[in-house]
Amino acid sequence: MALKLSPKQKHYYANSNAKINVSHGAVRSGKTFITNLRWLKYVRHGPPGKLLMSGRTKESLKENVLDDLFAMVGEGNYRYNAATGVLYLFGRKIECRGAEKIDSEGKIRGRTYAGWYADEVTIQHKEFVKQAIARCSVSGAQIFWTTNPDHPKHHIKTDFLEKKSLRDKGLLLHWHFYLEDNATLTPDYIEMLKGSFSGVFYDRNILGQWAVAQGRVYQDYSEERHNVSREEINRMIREPEFMEYIAGTDWGISAPIAANIYGVTRDYKFYQIAEFYKSRSTTEEVGRWYLQQEAWLGKKISVIYCDSAESDRILGLQKLGLRAMDSNKEIDAGLNTVMTLFKNDRLFVCSETCPNTVNELLTYRYPEPDDPKAALDTPIDADNHSMDAKRYCLHNYLRYRRI
Ligand SMILES: Nc1ncnc2c1ncn2[C@@H]1O[C@H](COP(=O)(O)OP(=O)(O)OP(=O)(O)O)[C@@H](O)[C@H]1O
Ligand SMILES: [Mg+2]
Repeated sequence: MALKLSPKQKHYYANSNAKINVSHGAVRSGKTFITNLRWLKYVRHGPPGKLLMSGRTKESLKENVLDDLFAMVGEGNYRYNAATGVLYLFGRKIECRGAEKIDSEGKIRGRTYAGWYADEVTIQHKEFVKQAIARCSVSGAQIFWTTNPDHPKHHIKTDFLEKKSLRDKGLLLHWHFYLEDNATLTPDYIEMLKGSFSGVFYDRNILGQWAVAQGRVYQDYSEERHNVSREEINRMIREPEFMEYIAGTDWGISAPIAANIYGVTRDYKFYQIAEFYKSRSTTEEVGRWYLQQEAWLGKKISVIYCDSAESDRILGLQKLGLRAMDSNKEIDAGLNTVMTLFKNDRLFVCSETCPNTVNELLTYRYPEPDDPKAALDTPIDADNHSMDAKRYCLHNYLRYRRI
């Protein structure tokens, strides 16, 4: 295979000889590709002994790293047991592990490794990271990490990348990757990538910065640009400009149940046309409200994405004849979806019929940087009911659609 490596990739390959070698930065910037090549060299020439590879889960490691690695070495040069996670590569034994859970660490305790490759190290459990470093006790054992940046107080940044003692002793080297460090990306693809991240997620995943999430979550939401009148919504329903209606539900008992309905245009713009927002309410009550809205719209709501924590309530809506289903609740990806819709002027809200949504849009915030909760890197968990309903609906609807 004729290899075309970027200067950054060449530099990493030739110089990643510290105890810990970290490639961090933008998505798709060529970190995994070059770390795979480096790891193959290590597998063949590193000190003898068992090796460790880890990802968020064993499955994500397979998808993000092993599949590429297997394509590089070709059939016959590896043997992988997906159930046990045991890999033989060029005859060497490698244990492949998921590392996101608190108990992941227990599974490698007492082992001895001659090297470790971690993909997405910032989302591996801190205790696993500590344990795996301690387990790499074979003389000359080396460690290779790749990751996208996280918040600036993340332990990978404070305890490793910024640790002067590690750097001064030459124990840690790091390489910051930018999109241009992957010479194989086309300008169109780079534009597409840039268009799919917003706010703090743009700073981290495109600019490759360890950026702090602060201030209003939906800074791109503007009342002037994104609020629409009831009259305009009624016209769009009548014309009809909406090809379908979709919805999201966040459950509550003392907190409100929040439900949002959106009209979807043919060019995939989303107009929030109605909201239900009520404390001490029941599944039955929100279900009746949905049925009334369907009667008014003269059309069934195609799908109602609900908080998956309460499956009996989802079943309750289904029993009323509503197309309710559970949601993928991944928070950062969901926030990024909604942020990006506002940034690209593809999400609107009827301020007259959805006052609680507008209120939450204006107040939904990240903690102040000096608040201990800032380390969680998630928005403040209050007054976010309609925000959750919005995220469930729009993120799940768009997750598998390349729009
Ligand atoms: N030198 C290269 N030659 C051929 N293909 C490459 C090269 N560098 C990167 N690629 C390809 O570009 C794509 C993105 O690279 P890679 O997966 O290494 O990025 P990454 O920085 O790990 O991204 P992410 O942060 O999203 O995991 C992959 O399909 C990879 O195979
Ligand atoms: Mg990668």
